[in-house]
Amino acid sequence: MTETALPQDDALKFEDWAGEMGARWLANLRGFESTIAPVGEALLARAAYCPGERVLDIGFGGGATSLAIAQAVNPGGEVIGIDISADLVTATTHRAALAGITNARFICADAAMVTLDDGPCDRLFSRFGSMFFQDPVGAFTNLRSLIRHSGRIDLAVWGPPLQNPWMLEGMAVARRHVDMPAPIPRAPGPFAFEDVDYLREVLAASGFEQLDISVAQGLLPVGGPSATAEDAQAFVCNALAFGQILQDCPEAVQAAATSELTKLYAKHFRPGEGVMMGYTAWLVSAVA
Ligand SMILES: C[S@@+](CC[C@H](N)C(=O)[O-])C[C@H]1O[C@@H](n2cnc3c(N)ncnc32)[C@H](O)[C@@H]1O
Repeated sequence: MTETALPQDDALKFEDWAGEMGARWLANLRGFESTIAPVGEALLARAAYCPGERVLDIGFGGGATSLAIAQAVNPGGEVIGIDISADLVTATTHRAALAGITNARFICADAAMVTLDDGPCDRLFSRFGSMFFQDPVGAFTNLRSLIRHSGRIDLAVWGPPLQNPWMLEGMAVARRHVDMPAPIPRAPGPFAFEDVDYLREVLAASGFEQLDISVAQGLLPVGGPSATAEDAQAFVCNALAFGQILQDCPEAVQAAATSELTKLYAKHFRPGEGVMMGYTAWLVSAVA
């Protein structure tokens, strides 16, 4: 049942990472970081950082991965985080200081065009921070210039929506209550690189070699491992773009949708684990 239509322009504002979206990531940081923790662990294990390395963390968000990398490259190494959201840069700088991390610094810039004053880094890392470029080949060509020759990149990007029921099933509920624009294949957004062949094309056209792509699949806890079905519904409605769209709907529409979402998450609730739903991410490495 479609009750409310959403103009395309309104939908696009939900990818405004320098503004509203960055602030929303920060406001829901614990939920986001604990939901996607399994992918971070897999990507960090695959990257296997060593003391002394200088690593860029692109689109670092609230900095969970940057802080983990800072510890792995200590002593002698450092992390430079680059994020387009000033709110996230301020919060993460504070978080690192509170954690006593002295070998990480955080820069507010567009990774598609940023330059580094103090020479290229050894490695580049990004968990879900590289799918939002308007011109992916231009952006990855710039990223390649930020690491030394033969330096390695490690990225995590989401696989196809059908293989990510943790997002798709909630979106399907929302779509029963409000019209949303159809997703545009390859457009900047969480699923920009769902098609690994496209990702291969982008990285090869940007000058990267030795591409190696593996899959990370399993269950993740929606809203974090201690979330109930009600918590997962609240997290999704506050944090994800389709939840925000619901929040702009009339009260009766919201009530019907949130009730249906809570029922969905209750079906996936496992005591002691949380609301466990399937995910698929591509873990990508390549050399400059
Ligand atoms: C989905 S969040 C992932 C955050 C973090 N990597 C994590 O996994 O916790 C995407 C991040 O990429 C950042 N971002 C988006 N476009 C960017 C750009 N062009 N340059 C730098 N950062 C960008 C956003 O501000 C946001 O922090």
